[in-house]
Amino acid sequence: MNNIHAIILAAGKGTRMNSTKPKVLQVLSNNTLLEHVLSQVKTLCNKIHIVYGFKGRQIQQKINNSSINWVKQVKQLGTGHAVAQVMPYIEDNSISLILYGDVPLIKRSTLSDLINKTQQGSITLLSVVLDNPTGYGRIIRNNKQIQAIVEQKDASNIQLDINEVNTGVMAANSQLLKQYLNEIDSRNTQDELYLTDIIACAVADEKTISSIISKNKFEVLGVNNKVQLAELERLFQKNQATQFMQQGLGLKDPARFDCRGTLTFGQNCEIDINILIEGKVSLGNNTTIKPNCIIKNTTIGNHVSIFPNCVIEDAVIGEGVTIGPFVHIRPQTHIQTHAKIGNFVEIKKSTIGKNTKISHLSYVGDATIGKNVNIGAGVITCNYDGVNKHQTMIADGAFIGSDSQLIAPIKIGKNAKIGAGSTITKSVSENQLSLSRTKQKNLKYHSKK
Ligand code: UD1
Ligand code: CA
Repeated sequence: MNNIHAIILAAGKGTRMNSTKPKVLQVLSNNTLLEHVLSQVKTLCNKIHIVYGFKGRQIQQKINNSSINWVKQVKQLGTGHAVAQVMPYIEDNSISLILYGDVPLIKRSTLSDLINKTQQGSITLLSVVLDNPTGYGRIIRNNKQIQAIVEQKDASNIQLDINEVNTGVMAANSQLLKQYLNEIDSRNTQDELYLTDIIACAVADEKTISSIISKNKFEVLGVNNKVQLAELERLFQKNQATQFMQQGLGLKDPARFDCRGTLTFGQNCEIDINILIEGKVSLGNNTTIKPNCIIKNTTIGNHVSIFPNCVIEDAVIGEGVTIGPFVHIRPQTHIQTHAKIGNFVEIKKSTIGKNTKISHLSYVGDATIGKNVNIGAGVITCNYDGVNKHQTMIADGAFIGSDSQLIAPIKIGKNAKIGAGSTITKSVSENQLSLSRTKQKNLKYHSKK
């Protein structure tokens, strides 16, 4: 049997989130809870069914996957009722894998083990042993054989002492699942149709229930409120950081490193504290990032040094470049090899050539700057006239004196020099020296004192 259906339960309101967003759309790292679950089942199952209730359209729009079968559960009458809604879409000769949309860190390998164990059998549960089992359904065994699951609210005092609990994740032969779902009823303290009651039905039908006891407790943790969401975020980040370090990334403190996206890196990269990586970021070899930087969707080459407090977004940074401290690199910027972008500089939508230096207090926007250019302290490309953005071109070897303003559109020729403090409104040719400041006057001055 290799026809596998994933059934993801996501109809709960998530009242304790105190949010207008449905619970499964709360975000962990850079994905919603539901997307985390989907990423793990996607390659395991032939078909994915999601049971939704609250704000279904919002969930469907966010997930935006036309191959998913969205099944509405109009009233939340219990987990058994939720699963029953999907049964009309499922062939008898298949395996149903049941998961929760609010248990985001479940691992593909665990699900695959559950499926394999169910190939010949009837039902396989994923259980976990908890120091504090309060709130969970307890696994009742007799001589090691699973007999039933009893919910917290229905359990006797003796049963409440059991530490092995139901995670909610299970795989079942679909034909048997259908049969037992027809047998359960809502005679319990919550007046709900409990999915978990199918276990006692199967045992009565002389079926053996298998189980896998989860060794990674984090993968079965559910999210019911913002406190748990933050706890899982830390766990997720910690696991990811551990993986990166095992692959050779140097992290000064894995607890002060967050990656909400994908990070690839070469050898000997060192990342200091308080770093946030977002989107798709890659680092070459021997690159270092000093404290307090945010780097998003950026390709960074070999031997790059990023000093403290930089924000870099949608950029390409070439080999041997140094950036920072306090630099803001905005989208569509390409900094070519060995350029130096120094203290308090903002660059937007610009190309900065090889060996060029923009070392202090500048704004460069919509500019193409050649190689070996020196941009003095406080230089500004005035790219915006209040209506349109205009280009600044600075050719190789030019020298722009400190505190100059280049009023775009403008071209500065090869090896041209701009005197400090100039406001340049007309293009400057190759090898020209251009100045635009009033002649200095030194006058007599009488102090009133
Ligand atoms: C359930 C299990 C319990 C287990 C625990 C693990 C049952 C009866 N109990 O309890 O054994 O230890 O999960 O967390 O199954 N849902 C729907 N429709 C409904 C009811 C629930 O889609 O009508 C969804 C919820 O959105 C949630 C999941 O099913 O994702 C679990 O529901 P919840 O009410 O949290 O179950 P528990 O009482 O915690
Ligand atoms: Ca729950």
